Amino acid sequence: MSDAIDFRSDFVARPTEEMVEAMVNAAKLPSGFGLRENQIVSELEFLAAKIVGKEDALFVPTCMMANQIAIALRCVAGDRFITEKSAHVITSEMDAAHMLTGAVAVEVSAVNGSLELDAVDENCASLSKIEKKPKLIVIENSHVRSGGRVVSLEHMESLFELSQKYDVSIHLDGARVFNAADAIGCTVSEIASFSDTVAFNLNKGLGAPLGAILAGPRPLIERAVEVRQLLGGGWRPAGIPAAAGIIALKTMTERLAVDRQHAKKLAMGISRIDGIEVSVKNTETNIVLSRPLKITPSDLVDRLSKREVLVLAMDQQVRWVTHYEITESAINTALGELQEILRGG
Ligand SMILES: Cc1ncc(COP(=O)(O)O)c(C=O)c1O
Repeated sequence: MSDAIDFRSDFVARPTEEMVEAMVNAAKLPSGFGLRENQIVSELEFLAAKIVGKEDALFVPTCMMANQIAIALRCVAGDRFITEKSAHVITSEMDAAHMLTGAVAVEVSAVNGSLELDAVDENCASLSKIEKKPKLIVIENSHVRSGGRVVSLEHMESLFELSQKYDVSIHLDGARVFNAADAIGCTVSEIASFSDTVAFNLNKGLGAPLGAILAGPRPLIERAVEVRQLLGGGWRPAGIPAAAGIIALKTMTERLAVDRQHAKKLAMGISRIDGIEVSVKNTETNIVLSRPLKITPSDLVDRLSKREVLVLAMDQQVRWVTHYEITESAINTALGELQEILRGG
C-alpha cells in the first residue's frame, strides 16, 4: 500500500511510536477475566472520566456503540429522543436507535449542529401534553456534517437549562469533542458539563488505533456495561487498545491546535485556487469542506487519488480532514496537485 496523503478522515492516522510501545507492553500483562477487570482498561476509564468531568467511563469499540448505548440507557421502545437531521446518529448509524431500542427520533431544526432552542422547547412542550415527553436530547460537538463546526458553550448551556426545565437528559456525541474544546479554548469537561453522558473517539484526532469512551454518572455506566454486552461489545482482552488510548489522552490532546491551524491553512490555500469554493471562516476545527465548481466532487476525488491525495466526496462537497500525519508540507503538496487538476492539468 502506498503512503498517500490521506485526508479522508482523522481515523486513518496510525498509532504513534509511544502507543505501539505501550500496546506491546500491555500484550505481555495478564488480561483479567471479568468485564471490568483489566487494569489497563480501568486506568483508561478512570483517566477518561476525570478528563471529561464525569463519575465513570466505559471503554467501547466505537463511538457509534457509545451513542447507541447512551440512547438505550434513556429510552425504551416508543420513547422519543430529540436531535437534528444531519446528526451522525441520524445520517450514519443505520437507524440503529429505532432498530435496537425502538426509540423514535424527533428531528428539530438546527444550524451547524446547534439545535434551535425554540424548536426544542416547542417539541418538549407539545410532546409532554400527549404524554410522550422526550427522554433524551442528542447533540453533536464538533458537528461533522457542517464541516466540524463548533457548538458554543453558551448554546450548550442554554440547551442544558431547557433540558432541565423538562427533566430531559442530554447525550453529547463528542466524537471530536477534543477538537471542539481546542477551537473554543476551553476544557472538554466544560463542554461535557452541559450533558449527562458524553461519547468520544480515541481513534480520530487523538490517533489511537481504535476505541471510544462513554462517560456519565456511575449508576448509568454500570448499566452501560450490560448494554455494551447486549450489543456484542464485551471485548476482552481490551488492555492492548486501552494502553494506546491512555497515551492518546495523555499526549495527543494539546496538539490538536496544530490540526486546526493546518485545516485553516488548507482552507486558505484552497480559497486561492480558481474553480473551487471553500469557507475559511467556517473552518473551525480540523475539517475543511470544499465545493468544486467545474467538475463533480467524485471526479475531483478520483483525480486527486491518482496523484496520491485522498479526500472524500460528501453531500456535493469534498471533505478534507487534518490529523497528526498531515504535515504542512503534505498540505502544500496537496494544494499543488489540486491547483494542477483544476487548471486542467
Ligand atoms: C460525530 C460522529 N459521531 C459518531 C461517529 C462514529 O464513530 P465510530 O466510527 O467510532 O463509530 C462519527 C464517525 O465519524 C462521528 O463523526
